[in-house]
Amino acid sequence: MARLDSILDLIGDTPLVDVSRLSPNPRVRLLIKLEGQNPTGSVKDRIALAMVEAAERDGTLRPGQTILEPSSGNTGIGLALVCRVKGYGLKVVLPENVSVERRQLLEIFGAEVVLSPGAEGSNGAVRLAEKLAADTPEYAFLYQYGTPDNPGAHYRGTGPEIWRDCPEVTHFVAGLGTSGTLMGVGRYLKEQNPAVQVWAVEPPAGELVQGLRSLDEGYIPPVFRDWGGAELLDRKLIVRPRESIEWTRRLLDEAGIFAGLSSGAAMAGAARAAADADEGVVVTLAPDGGWKYLSTGAWTDPLDDVVERASRIIYF
Ligand SMILES: Cc1ncc(COP(=O)(O)O)c(C=O)c1O
Repeated sequence: MARLDSILDLIGDTPLVDVSRLSPNPRVRLLIKLEGQNPTGSVKDRIALAMVEAAERDGTLRPGQTILEPSSGNTGIGLALVCRVKGYGLKVVLPENVSVERRQLLEIFGAEVVLSPGAEGSNGAVRLAEKLAADTPEYAFLYQYGTPDNPGAHYRGTGPEIWRDCPEVTHFVAGLGTSGTLMGVGRYLKEQNPAVQVWAVEPPAGELVQGLRSLDEGYIPPVFRDWGGAELLDRKLIVRPRESIEWTRRLLDEAGIFAGLSSGAAMAGAARAAADADEGVVVTLAPDGGWKYLSTGAWTDPLDDVVERASRIIYF
């Protein structure tokens, strides 16, 4: 690990940390996989690299070409790193109400930002990117919501890492955004042990937990449909923004883990799985670190203020 050929070799192989002190059930252990350890600080570095490498192999991406991607957050930054290292252009379509850290990071890595209407959220960014891709076929449109390389990165990477580090896993609980993490890890773990339970965490329709989406809002990612999401998932849990923030704080206060707000949502779900089980080992995943959410005041301000701010600004 000490000497690497490229920063891209740092992607993946993230640590799994025991946070059983946060388990509401003494007979159930709780572990969390820290994806903030990836080079740009999120799980999306995995899919960014996988999507670009697959497009290079199948010829959809040629030297010097520009990639177009809708992203309200981490995927854009992961792609910006991969594009910078490999020499591709990048245009990221994102809602105009994203936090300032997010735009700054994209611009530092050399990505061009195209803004979509804030009120339309991440669905608006997807629609605008689809239109731009149709109007400008020169762009390489990799499309995290639709490509098998998104769940594929988790099927080949994240899932096997969890199985290697914790073969006694009984439950896998994760937030649902594109659904790539749940589809890829879920399918891999169930192939190893069909008894493993796979639970998704979603915000209620109309409420915002950064990075997550409610399938009840009308858009079902093709990745979810193509990978048999309805059959794969054993349960869907609704976690509200307030509870996500409370668990994000508990992760820091009680386990010293500084993670993003969707990690708090995943932990809230993992704790419910632990409470529900007689015994077992619940594994969850922290998609990113806390750095890009500092301006939410999540760790410092009164909870009501943070919840209100998080409903207006897309932090990730
Ligand atoms: C912060 C954050 N959490 C969770 C997710 C959900 O992961 P996935 O897209 O694999 O469902 C994402 C990405 O969409 C994210 O950016």
